[in-house]
Amino acid sequence: MTRFDFARKIVLVTGGASGIGLACARTFALGGAQVVIADAQAEAGAQAAASIVQALGNAAFIEVDVANPASAQAMVDSVIERHGALDIAINNAGIGGGRVPTAAYSLEAWQQVINVNLSGVFYCLRAELPVMIKQGGGVIVNLASILGSRAMAGTPAYTASKHGVIGLTRTAAIDHAKDRIRVNAIGPGFIETPMIARAMDDSELNARIIALHPIGRLGQPQDIANLAAFLCSDEASFITGGYYLADGGYTAQ
Ligand code: NAI
Repeated sequence: MTRFDFARKIVLVTGGASGIGLACARTFALGGAQVVIADAQAEAGAQAAASIVQALGNAAFIEVDVANPASAQAMVDSVIERHGALDIAINNAGIGGGRVPTAAYSLEAWQQVINVNLSGVFYCLRAELPVMIKQGGGVIVNLASILGSRAMAGTPAYTASKHGVIGLTRTAAIDHAKDRIRVNAIGPGFIETPMIARAMDDSELNARIIALHPIGRLGQPQDIANLAAFLCSDEASFITGGYYLADGGYTAQ
């Protein structure tokens, strides 16, 4: 595991109960941060925080629905109330949305995916940025995807949401660079997490997806947590408004 120095930093990770978010939470805790996991899954989130407390140190859990602006605001208010600051935010909570061609894609699925993956990131930014402006700086990483710059058949909502996250990231970065807030997006290839396990129960599809990564394997959550940790570290102090891939060569082809 990569070690950066996050001593005394307050780090919020949405969707931190599982997969990439959980790996991020562990990585920041390993670097000495006070980590706050925020997730819609109360039991898994509380367990994740407890496991970090046991193994690494500081962690807490807040239940949130990022698709609800009041809930996203309450999450950030609660971080400030409990910890007095918000130094780093990883806006990672997201959902898949199935594989259905655009013509047949349901309104319900469209709204759900856009609400969580795109509006959810905006609602979090809208709550996080004013706090960071007030305290004189901060760092934010938004989870996009390779589907932030490419498309995959049957994923109109997911692909549109992740393209949107990149636009939102760039805008927030230039709006708030002078406030000493850095905002970047990460574009993972396919990463072995519960989200992907749910989508890839078919072994033929699994082999086809692996073959799309020249490196010959799917990514691990830690591969993404390492990039998030670097982007949030002081070593990345000149990096803002970017979209960084960790995709095993997927988009290089
Ligand atoms: P996951 O399904 O393992 O974890 C996502 C977490 O987000 C879960 O704990 C879930 O409860 C939480 N969540 C979902 N909706 C929420 C809501 N409305 N409010 C609060 N929490 C909510 O997924 P994974 O794979 O770790 O994905 C994390 C992020 O990375 C997502 O934004 C996803 O789109 C993105 N990503 C994942 C890739 C992959 O291959 N696994 C590839 C590219 C991007």
